[in-house]
Amino acid sequence: MPTVKIAPSILSADFSQLGEQVERALDAGAQYVHIDVMDGHFVPNITIGPLVTRSLRPLADKHQATLDVHLMIENEDRYVADFAQAGADIITVHVEACPHLHRTVQKIREAGARPGVTLNPATPLAALEEILPEVDLVLVMSVNPGFGGQAYIPSSTKKISRLRGMLDAIGSTAELEVDGGVTADNAAEIVAAGANVLVAGSAIFGGPHSIAENVASLRTAIEVGRNER
Ligand code: DX5
Ligand code: ZN
Repeated sequence: MPTVKIAPSILSADFSQLGEQVERALDAGAQYVHIDVMDGHFVPNITIGPLVTRSLRPLADKHQATLDVHLMIENEDRYVADFAQAGADIITVHVEACPHLHRTVQKIREAGARPGVTLNPATPLAALEEILPEVDLVLVMSVNPGFGGQAYIPSSTKKISRLRGMLDAIGSTAELEVDGGVTADNAAEIVAAGANVLVAGSAIFGGPHSIAENVASLRTAIEVGRNER
């Protein structure tokens, strides 16, 4: 089974020391940097844009890490090229926000990034059926998007297993990423269900332990899940 990657969500980092904190997570073995882009329309919160993405590109290059941009915005088509030019490796869009999802996915590829699609907790997997062969990543939201630090929605685990089945059935090698409420306590179950990229914000940048300790705890839990798979 391929390795499971850890994707620290910078939303929970201390932005006054962003580079330093991201570097600590990468030094500890995280392979992705997850960038949550929110516009105050699709989701109630407002966060960051291409500028911060660009500023993290050199750090990602230094560590051969993947810049994983999660767009939670309206009018995604308008911004895809900006994020690709800023250095995004993966650009993931919400099926709920894209009326012409197939075109948006093509746009992402044409802009030079790898396309991902994601769906909110209440959106059925059936919404992905037609687009699945076209994408390099599928993201299962295990909280309602908008804020870090929310609790994992337990029914997400079954959704992950079913999505793993759908991907395997079409021979897709797309990444299966999970985002929201991922901790060292549930990482094993999420990996056992078939996920291979785990986003973690507060579990990496929050709490009393160091970033390195938090990444190590997640890694230990992931190995347990891999053995259960
Ligand atoms: C939620 C974001 C997540 C969030 C994860 O809208 O997409 O990436 O930052 O944070 P935690 O791991 O704290 O749930
Ligand atoms: Zn996210």
